[in-house]
Amino acid sequence: MSSKKKQGGLAGIVAGKTAICTVGDGHSLRYCGYDIYELAEKASFEEVAYLLLYGELPKSEELESFTHALFSNRILPKEVREILKLIPKDSHPMDVMRTGISALGNFYPEKEDRSNQDSIALQILGASPSILLYWHAYHHNIELNLESKDSVLQDNTAKFFLETLHQKQVPQLWIDAMNVSLILYAEHEFNASTFTSRTIASTLSDLHSSIIGGICALKGPLHGGANEAAMELLNSLPNVESVLPSMQKKLDNKEKIMGFGHRVYVTSDPRNVVIKEWSKKLSDYNANNRAQLSGYALLDSKLESSNDLYAKSEVVEQFMWESKKLFPNLDFYSASTYHFMGIPTAYFTPIFIMSRETGWLGHIFEQRKDNKLIRPNAEYVGIQERKFIALSAR
Ligand code: COA
Repeated sequence: MSSKKKQGGLAGIVAGKTAICTVGDGHSLRYCGYDIYELAEKASFEEVAYLLLYGELPKSEELESFTHALFSNRILPKEVREILKLIPKDSHPMDVMRTGISALGNFYPEKEDRSNQDSIALQILGASPSILLYWHAYHHNIELNLESKDSVLQDNTAKFFLETLHQKQVPQLWIDAMNVSLILYAEHEFNASTFTSRTIASTLSDLHSSIIGGICALKGPLHGGANEAAMELLNSLPNVESVLPSMQKKLDNKEKIMGFGHRVYVTSDPRNVVIKEWSKKLSDYNANNRAQLSGYALLDSKLESSNDLYAKSEVVEQFMWESKKLFPNLDFYSASTYHFMGIPTAYFTPIFIMSRETGWLGHIFEQRKDNKLIRPNAEYVGIQERKFIALSAR
């Protein structure tokens, strides 16, 4: 980091214990002890989801029943679909996700004795991609008919999301990239949204409420919203030559560059090297397969701006390091990775939800096992004592 960090924001404070994830502090990033690099290379997102929820990697029959239950929630209840139709086309998709989960909670609430917490967790996870997809389809005059497709109950999350969005088969490379991205985004210790979810859970509130709190915290550009903001930044740079003068101007104006820096990491974000590699792979793939890719309506308008997107990103990265010693976090190259798959920019942070919900749920379960209300103190800095003055006399 270029200069001393500001105090506050609970920076450096240990706010509780967890056995789910280790971040920074000399450790590599690990989920329940498993190295993130090994998970990204060898695991499916569904295996990682199971790991975060239950603390162990699943055996094959456990994974089978887990995915069966998870995927069957993709067909949303009719009532929820009706509510999604009422949400305007120009709403922010993060607000759509928030309302969709809230609607589910009204029709299928968690019981007060928590006896259905596991099935509610799978409902939230399984339904989340569909909330965005049904809303998208409705406003683009697409009939989804998920209930009539066998693949809906079989395809992994990455394939289901991408192929339902594009309404056609997508390259295996995209599916692999999305699977890795979902693994990288799944969990990150006491980040703002997870801490919010845990705080809500600590009041003995229900799962839907705790997850919705996480969504609300994730939306902001200092947290999950950074991947969308990073794409907007890259889109605002017309070509490679424009990067240095534009970026210099932004820093001179004291603008924050979304997708750079981190509260915990000091010299790099270990997830960046993985997602950057995928961004490069997709960039090359798109450049070499232009003709085949012209059939993807959502990608069509992006192909032109895809040409030098990776090159622009690298120049931004180099500039930020040389001028401020700031490094890209996971959000920066996630932006171009998603762009190369034709995903609308406003859907980037909802994808983050579909993944991070696994971490939120794991943390909510962990909080519930040994609950203590999260209620810190504040240092009072206001006026000490004043006499009340009647309204008419003020
Ligand atoms: N662009 C420009 N300057 C940045 C910066 C960025 N992305 N991140 C940090 N800085 C600068 C700050 O302006 C500050 O400089 P100053 O002391 O001269 O005012 C200094 O570095 C410390 O930043 P601060 O925001 O106080 O540190 P933090 O620990 O609160 O920041 C983040 C962590 C993530 C909020 C911050 O790096 C940021 O805003 N990044 C952009 C948003 C983002 O990508 N979020 C996703 C995180 S995974």
